[in-house]
Amino acid sequence: MHALKKEIILLKLGGSLLTDKNKPYSIRKEIVRNVLSQIIKVYKKIIVIHGGGSFGHPPAKKYQISGGLNSAISNQILGVAETHQSMNYFNSYLVNILVENRYPAITMQSSSIFVKEGNSMSMHSQDIIETILNLGLTPILYGDVIFDKNGSFSIISGDEIIYLLCLGLTEYEVSKVIFTMETDGIYIKDDNNKNGHVLLNDCFARELDSLELADLGQKIDVTGGIKGKIDFIKKICDLNVPVQLVNGLKEDYILKALMNQDVDCTNILVNE
Ligand code: IPE
Repeated sequence: MHALKKEIILLKLGGSLLTDKNKPYSIRKEIVRNVLSQIIKVYKKIIVIHGGGSFGHPPAKKYQISGGLNSAISNQILGVAETHQSMNYFNSYLVNILVENRYPAITMQSSSIFVKEGNSMSMHSQDIIETILNLGLTPILYGDVIFDKNGSFSIISGDEIIYLLCLGLTEYEVSKVIFTMETDGIYIKDDNNKNGHVLLNDCFARELDSLELADLGQKIDVTGGIKGKIDFIKKICDLNVPVQLVNGLKEDYILKALMNQDVDCTNILVNE
């Protein structure tokens, strides 16, 4: 008989929530403090994954890191180091606040625990993550450079990390994934509403394809926009993990979502 798996929540903090996307290397300090203070209040097993925002995307774009090794790009190898270091700096800022507030957070460098081979990415240190969790530490992971067994590299996004964690944890079962964003969730077209759109509250994953998304220029995070996000949500729900999209700017929404209390948000349910 299998031992009962322990429950865990994965929390993604979008890079465009935590940083000013229009200004390279800028942190939205008030928002960061607010978001982290909610995490500190929750004594639950969670893994936090944060995006790159204005720290990850500018160097990654400048050196075309996601396209892999390309000798035509000058100083690209230095660019790999710069991209990782920029993320490392941003991550340290976040983790410092947590630890200064006596919250036992520990960084796990994504570039060391995930590997790419051809088109697929995989995780090879799930046992370390689970030992860390068992000790009562909260692992903090982030979008980062990823190395390719074929001698190249790319970028691993926070969303990909979440998918691989849902797939690869063995002692833990992910009870839900929370994506924080700057709106209350996904908006769909509604001609009966004076704004022309309404917030989608509950929806099954299989219904996602037929939604008429309202075009609000919504930025959940920098990579992929709302459509790219929906593709990840479907993959996560296919692993029987429900997804919640929560406004990270509203007071205590993250806290409530982590505590499984009601919030006005979008819930994507696993297909029945
Ligand atoms: C990107 O991670 C990481 C780098 C560019 C190095 P994400 O794609 O998860 O970041 P955000 O949330 O869109 O900023």
